[in-house]
Amino acid sequence: MESEKPNFGAVMVYFKKPSWAFLVLLFTVIAVLSLQITTKAIIPFQLFPVLRSSNPDVASGFDPGSCAGFLGELPERKHVMSIKDFGAIGDGKTSNTAAFRKALVYMQRFGEKGGAQLNVPKGKWLTGSFNLTSNFTLFLEQGAVILGSQDPEEWPVVEPLPSYGRGRERLGGRHISLIHGDGLINVVITGQNGTIDGQGRMWWELWWNRTLKHTRGHLLELMNSHNILISNLTFLNSPFWTIHPIYCSNVVIKDMTILAPLNAPNTDGIDPDSSTNVCIEDCYIESGDDLVAVKSGWDQYGIRMARPSSNIIVRRISGTTPTCSGVGIGSEMSGGIFNVTIEDMHVWNSAAGVRIKTDTGRGGYIANITINNITMERVKIPIRVSRGSNDHPDDGWDPKAIPKIKGIVISNIVSLNSTKAPVLAGVQGASFEGICFKNVTLLGLAPTAAWHCEFVSGCTSAVFPLPCPQLQNNGSSACCL
Ligand SMILES: *[C@@H]1O[C@H](CO)[C@@H](O)[C@H](O)[C@H]1NC(C)=O
Ligand SMILES: *[C@@H]1O[C@H](CO)[C@@H](O)[C@H](O)[C@H]1NC(C)=O
Ligand SMILES: *[C@@H]1O[C@H](CO)[C@@H](O)[C@H](O)[C@H]1NC(C)=O
Ligand SMILES: *[C@@H]1O[C@H](CO)[C@@H](O)[C@H](O)[C@H]1NC(C)=O
Ligand SMILES: *[C@@H]1O[C@H](CO)[C@@H](O)[C@H](O)[C@H]1NC(C)=O
Ligand SMILES: *[C@@H]1O[C@H](CO)[C@@H](O)[C@H](O)[C@H]1NC(C)=O
Ligand SMILES: *[C@@H]1O[C@H](CO)[C@@H](O)[C@H](O)[C@H]1NC(C)=O
Ligand SMILES: *[C@@H]1O[C@H](CO)[C@@H](O)[C@H](O)[C@H]1NC(C)=O
Ligand SMILES: *[C@@H]1O[C@H](CO)[C@@H](O)[C@H](O)[C@H]1NC(C)=O
Ligand SMILES: *[C@@H]1O[C@H](CO)[C@@H](O)[C@H](O)[C@H]1NC(C)=O
Ligand SMILES: *[C@@H]1O[C@H](CO)[C@@H](O)[C@H](O)[C@H]1NC(C)=O
Repeated sequence: MESEKPNFGAVMVYFKKPSWAFLVLLFTVIAVLSLQITTKAIIPFQLFPVLRSSNPDVASGFDPGSCAGFLGELPERKHVMSIKDFGAIGDGKTSNTAAFRKALVYMQRFGEKGGAQLNVPKGKWLTGSFNLTSNFTLFLEQGAVILGSQDPEEWPVVEPLPSYGRGRERLGGRHISLIHGDGLINVVITGQNGTIDGQGRMWWELWWNRTLKHTRGHLLELMNSHNILISNLTFLNSPFWTIHPIYCSNVVIKDMTILAPLNAPNTDGIDPDSSTNVCIEDCYIESGDDLVAVKSGWDQYGIRMARPSSNIIVRRISGTTPTCSGVGIGSEMSGGIFNVTIEDMHVWNSAAGVRIKTDTGRGGYIANITINNITMERVKIPIRVSRGSNDHPDDGWDPKAIPKIKGIVISNIVSLNSTKAPVLAGVQGASFEGICFKNVTLLGLAPTAAWHCEFVSGCTSAVFPLPCPQLQNNGSSACCL
C-alpha cells in the first residue's frame, strides 16, 4: 500500500514557479496515475503535503495485527519529544520522576492537537510513578530501560478500587502503579522491545517480611480508559500484578515479554478486570502467579459495581508459573465474566493449566468461556475448578451470594506428565453447569489418577482418562455450546 503511493514531494517544489510546460506534464502524470489507482482517492490528498496520512501504519509502531478489530484509529502522533528534552538523565541512579511528570503535563496540551509521543532512548531511566495522558504514545527505543523507584513514597497511596472496596492485600488505599492512567483515550505503550523494570524485590520482601503497609502497586494500570495498545516491550519484576486494565474497553496487549522470578509473590502477567473487548496475544510470560487472570471485582464491592469482564480473547500465550495457572478466571469475579476465548496456549512446569476460581460470597457469574487448543507439559493439575479459602474483603460479605457458572467448553487439550487428573470442585448449593470437555488427552498420569468432581455437571466426549460420572452425558442432548 505504502509503496503504491506516488511521491509528489519533489513535484511540489515546482508549484512555487509553475511553467506551462511543467503543468501540462504534471497533469498528464496525475491523469495517468489516476487511471492506475482508481479505487482510492489518495491523489488529491497527496497534493497537500500538510495533510499527513492518518493510516495507523506499521512504520509508526501501532500495528495491532490480528487484534486490529479491537481498536479504533491510533494515528501517528504530531508532536514527538524525548524524555531528555525534560532534563532526564539515563544513568540508572538519578531520579527522573520530575522529568517524566513534567513531560506528561507538557504533552497533555497536544491531546486535541494531533497527539504526542514521548520517546525514551537507550539508557536506564530511574523514576517514580507517573500518569499518562490521552492521545499519547510512550515509546521505548531499543536499549531503553525504565527502572521503578526503590522509594515507596514515589509510589503514592491512592484510593482503593470501588469494585474491591479496599486494597487487595491490605485494608485502605493502595500504592499507585509505576505507570498509571485514569479516564484516558487512545494510548499506545510500545517500542523496540525496550524494558520497564519495576525492581519489585523490595516490595516482595515487604510482603514476605509481613511489613507491607499498603497493597503493592502494579507495573502498569489503566483505569476507565478506551482504545489502548500495549505492545513490543519487556516488562520485568512488577511489585504486584504486572498489567492491570480495569474498567477499560478496547484494549490490545500483544508481543509482550513479561518476566518475574518464579517465586515473586502475586506477580500475575496480565489481569483484565471489569473490562470489555480485550485482545491479548503472542506474549511470553514467566512469573510467580497466573500468566493471565480474568477478574471482575471482589465480593459485595464487585457485586455492587456490577462491571463484568467480557468479549475477551487470549491467544498464543506461552510460559510457566510453578505455583499458579496458565490462565485463571477469578477468583475475583463478582461483577460477572462472560464471552471469553482462550486458545493456542502452551504452558509448562506449572501448578495448573486452566483454573476457574470462585467462592461463596463472590456472587456474580462465569458464562460462555471457550478454552481451545492448550498444550501442557508437567503441569500438576491440568484443569481445575476450585472454591476459595475464605478470602473476603471484610465481614460485610454475603454468605448467600453464590456464584453461577454456566457454559465452559474446554476442547483440544493435550497434557503430558501431569500429576493429577482434572479436579473440579464447585461450591455447594451453587450451580456449576454446562461444563463440557471435548478431545482432552492427559498422558503420563499414574494409572490410579482419577477425575475428582464435586457439585458440577456437564458432558464430555473423547476424553482420556475416563471422566467422572457427573460429566458423562449418558446420551442426553449435548450440553456443549
Ligand atoms: C483525542 O484526539 C481526538 C482526535 O483524534 C479528539 O477528537 C479528542 O478530543 C482527543 N481527546 C483528548 C482527551 O485529547
Ligand atoms: C496520578 O493520578 C492519580 C489519580 O488517578 C492521582 O492520585 C495522582 O496524584 C496523580 N499523580 C501525579 C504525579 O499527577
Ligand atoms: C519491535 O521490536 C523489535 C526488536 O527490538 C524492533 O525491531 C521492531 O521494530 C519493533 N516493532 C515495532 C512495531 O516497533
Ligand atoms: C525482547 O527482550 C526479551 C528480554 O531480553 C527477550 O527475551 C525477547 O526475546 C525479546 N523479544 C523480541 C521480539 O526480540
Ligand atoms: C526483609 O527481611 C530481611 C531479613 O530480615 C532483610 O534483609 C530485608 O532488608 C527486609 N526487606 C525489607 C524490604 O524490609
Ligand atoms: C464475544 O467476544 C468477541 C470478541 O472477543 C466478539 O467478537 C463477539 O461478538 C462476542 N460475542 C457475543 C455473543 O457477544
Ligand atoms: C495450537 O496452539 C499452538 C500453540 O500453542 C499452535 O502452534 C498450533 O498451531 C495450534 N493448533 C491449531 C490447530 O490451531
Ligand atoms: C451465553 O451464550 C448463550 C448462547 O449463545 C446466550 O444465550 C447467553 O445469553 C450467553 N450468556 C452470557 C452471560 O453471555
Ligand atoms: C485433539 O486435540 C489435539 C490438540 O489440539 C489435536 O492435535 C487433534 O487433532 C484433536 N483431535 C481431534 C479429533 O479433533
Ligand atoms: C514425561 O515423563 C517421561 C517418563 O518420566 C519422560 O521420559 C518424558 O520425557 C516426559 N515428557 C515430558 C514432556 O515431560
Ligand atoms: C451418567 O451415568 C452414570 C453411570 O453410568 C451415573 O453415575 C451418572 O449420575 C449419570 N450422569 C447423569 C448426569 O445423569
